[in-house]
Amino acid sequence: MVQEIPFHQGGESVLTDLESPFLLYVYLTLYLSYPTMHYAHRPTRVEIDLAALRHNYMQLRRRTSTDVDIMAVVKADAYGHGAVFVAQTLQDAGASMFGVAIAEEGLALRRAGIMKPILVLGGAWPGQEDIVLAEGMHTTVFEYDQLERLNSAARRQGRRCTCHIKLDTGMGRLGLQLEDLPGFLAHLRHFPYIDIVGVMSHMALADEPEHPHNATQMEVFARGVEQIRAAGLTPRYLHSYNSAASFVPPSSMCNLMRPGIALYGGQPLAATRLDLHPVMNFRTQIAHLKWLPPGRGVSYGQHFTATRPTLVASIPVGYADGYNRLLSNGFHAIVNKCKVPVIGKVCMDWTMLDVTEVPGVAAYDDVTLLGCEGDVCVYAEDWAERIGTISYEVMCQVSKRVPRVYLPVGTPDRTEGTPECEVCGHRGEDKSALQEQVGDV
Ligand SMILES: Cc1ncc(COP(=O)(O)O)c(C=O)c1O
Repeated sequence: MVQEIPFHQGGESVLTDLESPFLLYVYLTLYLSYPTMHYAHRPTRVEIDLAALRHNYMQLRRRTSTDVDIMAVVKADAYGHGAVFVAQTLQDAGASMFGVAIAEEGLALRRAGIMKPILVLGGAWPGQEDIVLAEGMHTTVFEYDQLERLNSAARRQGRRCTCHIKLDTGMGRLGLQLEDLPGFLAHLRHFPYIDIVGVMSHMALADEPEHPHNATQMEVFARGVEQIRAAGLTPRYLHSYNSAASFVPPSSMCNLMRPGIALYGGQPLAATRLDLHPVMNFRTQIAHLKWLPPGRGVSYGQHFTATRPTLVASIPVGYADGYNRLLSNGFHAIVNKCKVPVIGKVCMDWTMLDVTEVPGVAAYDDVTLLGCEGDVCVYAEDWAERIGTISYEVMCQVSKRVPRVYLPVGTPDRTEGTPECEVCGHRGEDKSALQEQVGDV
């Protein structure tokens, strides 16, 4: 029922690796956690498939012209995947820049040795100017007082502050509207320590490429960029595209894209499946197996009653781990490549599955709650649809109680070779159908 979490895969000499600040950070973390590492863990874990992450990055890279850079969005701990390992993998794969929501997230990346430019998408809060400057982060600006605060901190530190003007072209969230831009640009002239290196906005309906709002937003963006250039500024980076817009760009004026969900294997377009691999595999093991006779109920409220002799597997995962209670009674997990139903209410620490149909099932068998066993998959989109949300929230809601285990690039797929459950007949996905459905960028 318990398993050693493989915190360190590899086995090469530690001494030669110490030259890398990232590895130094990893080894230091391992050293400091030594007293608590060496005991067996509950088998509930999230396996982060770094090869899948790299595959997804390369999919984006291949579709994009070489003069467009990629800013990997790693905010919210890389959508729950672990920002440090994700950023390290993507830095090695060639990502030019990283996007975080708040300065604290940027600082964590710097502490881990990520040296590529980092943009604080949400801007620096009052009091964060010094840390943003000292760590060489870029930040967005859209409020007058941000200019004043960043400028005076930069003057004090004897540095220049690298900023991106954020335009609201139709998202209605952060950013300057076009009518406020002339005043902002006039104000900017008073702040000599501010360097405007970028102009950005965010698309509201990029997952519906045909929607006219996309073209409208890009027209507004183009007019904003024109005004900024007419004020004598020469921003190097123009960026509006998230994952969806990166696959189907509404115009070609941007030279930097900001994908998030596609890197993690989420499908960015509402109506199209792209060849992206899930990075997050949420797994556990069967703790307890027993037969319930017909008429016997399962879990709080007894919302499931067996109608036949039913083999019930109790698995050590619950809503405290982020296994949402709305998945109760009817969603499915994977056991030995068979999709099996969740029965009864999901509890705080336990969930029950009907494994009657699974051939040879045994205690301690692996269970996949999210992700794939070979070609049999539970996608974040399936889970999201069931609970009435989006794949982003599914990935972010797996709780910190669940350890992330990193499978390095090059790890063979341990479940390859048997594409479907022999008895249940659950077919894996036909990968040949995942053809390129949108044209090259
Ligand atoms: C400003 C900004 N840019 C880019 C992204 C990445 O979007 P996506 O995950 O849809 O690719 C986000 C995510 O919400 C964002 O807020």
